[in-house]
Amino acid sequence: MIDIAPSILSADFARLGEELKAIEAGGASVVHVDIMDGQFVPNITVGLPVVKAVRGATRLLVDTHLMITEPGRWVEQFVEAGSSMVSVHVEAEPHLHRALTTIKSSGAQAGVAINPATPLMALEEALPFVDYVVLMSVNPGFGGQKFIRTALDKLRRLRRLIDERGFKVRIEIDGGIDTSNIAEAVAAGAEIIVAGSAVFNNADPAQAVRDLRNSAAQFV
Ligand code: DX5
Ligand code: ZN
Repeated sequence: MIDIAPSILSADFARLGEELKAIEAGGASVVHVDIMDGQFVPNITVGLPVVKAVRGATRLLVDTHLMITEPGRWVEQFVEAGSSMVSVHVEAEPHLHRALTTIKSSGAQAGVAINPATPLMALEEALPFVDYVVLMSVNPGFGGQKFIRTALDKLRRLRRLIDERGFKVRIEIDGGIDTSNIAEAVAAGAEIIVAGSAVFNNADPAQAVRDLRNSAAQFV
């Protein structure tokens, strides 16, 4: 089961409600919300009020990607604001177990996110406590960056690691995904596919979601 998760980072924030309706119409199942603090990553985006607004405006699962320093301090509030899924970066949180179990006990799915050059070893011990891993295929901070192709081999190794240990952990891929590479990502083991610019920089975001789903089906 493949979930297409458009990232609102590239949406028109003045028309967020309409943008959400469009991706629902296109068959998206998840909406990805990128939270950046200007410290962990060199950009600042949105926070709790926007998560609340998105929650109130859509029936899609709200997937909150925290690109903030020490995210564990904030996870409960992001669940209370309406996140169905919350991910924290392995590079940003010294108390990963606590952050992940807090997300779960607050009632959301827990994810651990990992940057392109961080070894998989860094999240191995966290696998028993997560529902999904966010494998970054760009350096987090901005939409519209080029897909880093070494992420595909890393994705295959992560899939194998998860399957060998018998964990029920899904892999989300985030960054630079479009119709040219989505099938490779799915074939390598990704099940939740984030796409920002490929969806919202298209004049017809609903059709862009359909195009991604059709391209994803090519290799599987
Ligand atoms: C990058 C964000 C991504 C971003 C993806 O820091 O985590 O979710 O919005 O955008 P595209 O699909 O344009 O790379
Ligand atoms: Zn993201």
